[in-house]
Amino acid sequence: MRMAPVIVGLGGSTSAVSVTGLALDRCLALAAEGGAEVRAFDGPFLAGLPIFSVDATPSAAAVELAEAVRGADALVVATPGYHGGMSGLVKNALDHLELLRDDRRPYLDGRAVGIVVTSSGWQACGTTLVAARSAVHALRGWPTPLGVMINSAEQYPDASGRFDARAEGALTVMTQQLLDFAGWQAAARAAVS
Ligand SMILES: Cc1cc2nc3c(=O)[nH]c(=O)nc-3n(C[C@H](O)[C@H](O)[C@H](O)COP(=O)(O)O)c2cc1C
Repeated sequence: MRMAPVIVGLGGSTSAVSVTGLALDRCLALAAEGGAEVRAFDGPFLAGLPIFSVDATPSAAAVELAEAVRGADALVVATPGYHGGMSGLVKNALDHLELLRDDRRPYLDGRAVGIVVTSSGWQACGTTLVAARSAVHALRGWPTPLGVMINSAEQYPDASGRFDARAEGALTVMTQQLLDFAGWQAAARAAVS
């Protein structure tokens, strides 16, 4: 019997109510409904990471994040658009994946990565999604064909955490792409073992 895929989400912000964090939660809830085991590293957790330095001994939080990503079958990265790109908080978390450099599967190798961007305008949604995809490519990850853009000036979740139909549709499709990719990877591993 195949094990449940593990999907690790990281992102959000330290805002009192982070719409990016809510979008990440919604994405992981959909993944859990689809049969995944999920774990989230939210804005407050990421704010506990030091600014990454190659010379520093990794903090306990950094090791925890790296271990979780190492064991993940797929990831979700959720960032607000800050001045046209990823927030420093989320980029710093990705920089910490340098700790996976010497792994058998370095960085995000072999893992699908869904990207969720929230911005108060569509232009920053687009530029930030492209920037985040470039970072995932640099980390050897496989960005899903669909990335999710949420314009937080127009789209906000209801009390149940659900977004409008457009955002829900995109989150659902992207989550299914993560689950599909993780399943294909597991099947390929089983075929060669
Ligand atoms: C420092 C900062 C920079 C921002 N830059 C942009 C921007 O360039 N374009 C844009 O549309 N929204 C920008 N925003 C708005 C945020 O992207 C938007 O409100 C986002 O949904 C906030 O996510 P959060 O609730 O998770 O913090 C910026 C917000 C902050 C705090």
